[in-house]
Amino acid sequence: AKGDPAKGKQIVDTVCAACHGVDGNSVAAANPTIAGQSQQYLYSQLKAFKTGERKNPTMLGMTAGLSDDDMHNLAAYFSQQKPKDREAADKALLPLGAKIYRVGNPASHVPACMACHGPAGKGLPEQFPRVGSQHAGYIAKQLADFKAGADRKNLMMTDIASRMTDAEMKAVAEYISGL
Ligand code: HEM
Ligand code: HEM
Repeated sequence: AKGDPAKGKQIVDTVCAACHGVDGNSVAAANPTIAGQSQQYLYSQLKAFKTGERKNPTMLGMTAGLSDDDMHNLAAYFSQQKPKDREAADKALLPLGAKIYRVGNPASHVPACMACHGPAGKGLPEQFPRVGSQHAGYIAKQLADFKAGADRKNLMMTDIASRMTDAEMKAVAEYISGL
């Protein structure tokens, strides 16, 4: 694959580390952990921020000055980092969260998340992202964004999120964070 992780690291140290951590493990819930995502997924998201297809003012600013090579290099660097395990904070939400993740909700035609994000949340190659060990707050925001259909669109996820209730999104986000 294209991309030089050493060149990516130079940009990480001066720009990305402040929010995503130098090893791609972020501290604040609004900033996603990006360690260990596939190189293809990371590149696709950087490109989507830059073109404005995925709308986020912060990441629009961050990608404005990046070249295509920079984005390949950054994707190569973060794909090689290791995500740290996280523990779900609100354990009361886990039974519903586990049900959605592993079975879905047949009544409202929500499919099992693990079909595309893997039984352990590690994602599947290449365009199906890792969701395990991610901040619950970030996950819940992405589901809400897919459902609203303005800032982030994806054929599969827009359809799925539009069938989910707020309670289901919150519960599955909590479950995912502990995977
Ligand atoms: C999202 C990379 C700098 C804040 C993302 C995502 C990637 C990324 C790949 C999407 C993750 C996913 O879909 O799972 C980078 C790179 C950076 C950088 C390579 C350096 C060039 C920053 C900085 C900040 C920041 C400095 C804070 C000032 C955020 C936030 C999101 C995000 C808040 C989530 C946006 C949303 O809610 O959709 N970043 N980032 N990033 N990043 Fe960055
Ligand atoms: C992206 C959650 C089911 C395919 C995502 C993201 C989340 C998520 C939080 C964004 C990840 C990030 O920003 O790092 C869920 C949940 C599901 C579910 C909770 C079950 C209710 C599925 C299924 C499929 C799928 C069944 C396949 C048919 C995808 C794809 C993306 C994605 C392709 C990447 C979208 C993009 O490139 O912007 N999912 N997912 N997901 N999911 Fe799911």
